[in-house]
Amino acid sequence: MINIAICGATGYTGYEIIKILLRHPKADIRVLTAKLDKPAKISEEFPELKGKIDLVCEELVVNHILKKKIDLVFLALPHRISMEYASRFINKGKMVIDLSADFRLKDVKEYERYYGQKHIYKDYLAQSVYGLPELYKDSIKRTRFIANPGCYPTGSILAVAPLLAKKRAAKDTIIFDAKSGTTGAGRKAVLGLIFGEVAENLKAYKVGTHQHAPEITQELSNLAGKKIDILFTPHLVPIRRGILTTAYVSLNKKSDLSSLLRCYKSFYQNAPFVKIYDEGLLPQVHDIVNTNYCGIGIALSSDKKKAIVVSVIDNLLKGASGQAVQNMNIACGFPETMGLE
Ligand SMILES: NC(=O)c1ccc[n+]([C@@H]2O[C@H](COP(=O)([O-])OP(=O)(O)OC[C@H]3O[C@@H](n4cnc5c(N)ncnc54)[C@H](OP(=O)(O)O)[C@@H]3O)[C@@H](O)[C@H]2O)c1
Repeated sequence: MINIAICGATGYTGYEIIKILLRHPKADIRVLTAKLDKPAKISEEFPELKGKIDLVCEELVVNHILKKKIDLVFLALPHRISMEYASRFINKGKMVIDLSADFRLKDVKEYERYYGQKHIYKDYLAQSVYGLPELYKDSIKRTRFIANPGCYPTGSILAVAPLLAKKRAAKDTIIFDAKSGTTGAGRKAVLGLIFGEVAENLKAYKVGTHQHAPEITQELSNLAGKKIDILFTPHLVPIRRGILTTAYVSLNKKSDLSSLLRCYKSFYQNAPFVKIYDEGLLPQVHDIVNTNYCGIGIALSSDKKKAIVVSVIDNLLKGASGQAVQNMNIACGFPETMGLE
């Protein structure tokens, strides 16, 4: 059994971690924190938890949390806030799974450019493992500090990783057209996310400037062993959760669909949460939402020189909290799917 603290328990991802761990046979939630004015029972914030977990959600005070003999901390906090707490828990020998972007980008300059702030804990970057189990399972097994991937990067990277790893992609720019539900932006009140703005609407945002682009570039370049050029455009769609990404990849030679599907199935043969759709089928948000799966379907352009890959994830599960628990399972030596099916 491992004792767990969840910092940021009143946010969307913190709430999902609580719900997953309540059905996890090896996890004991000991501490919940938020930025509340005064401590309050978590079931007052989320009535669905009444009778399931009785903890009071408290202020985030590291020394207080350490007294509760915790083994692992989930940081479901905004970026910048996370970096300070991650370093303090790591210094105390605790396992940390950080859902923020603070330790995902290995290039500090890229972090500072896209997140608009100084990285004041860059010495810790070398210790963090990018927590995408489909690419880094062995490193995750050996680490105590996991930088959980972003939601858009999870859907985008998984969509094209086999083509880069197996050298099937040409060197052209890879295009990602991604659409997300509103929970991707967190639970705080923001004008552009209220019902009146989002309902019956569809918009592109942060075009050419989104902070997830360098994360996708970093990981695809690592996979390919050379710099990969991408274009990434996110859209906000009027649904609560789910991300559908369409990726366009030029292939280095004419291909047939069955050979591409074989390539994907072989690459993901040890990935319990990646589901490759059979020829002629593509994933939809409804198939995947509320699960920890990434669904992937592939089509070919009529000249058979471009792959059009559609991936779907639930941004709060495979794109955040489900993946965080998957990483916990791998790092703690539990079955990878424990609590997640
Ligand atoms: N939402 C997604 O789909 C998604 C996917 C992947 C990664 N992420 C990342 O995961 C992290 C959490 O996201 P979220 O969507 O759960 O955000 P959220 O809904 O806005 O929740 C943030 C949580 O952090 C707490 N918090 C905020 N400022 C704090 C401070 N200064 N000190 C202590 N606690 C503070 C909040 O407490 P109060 O409620 O009291 O304010 C809340 O519990 C973010 O870094 C986000 O980028 C999110």
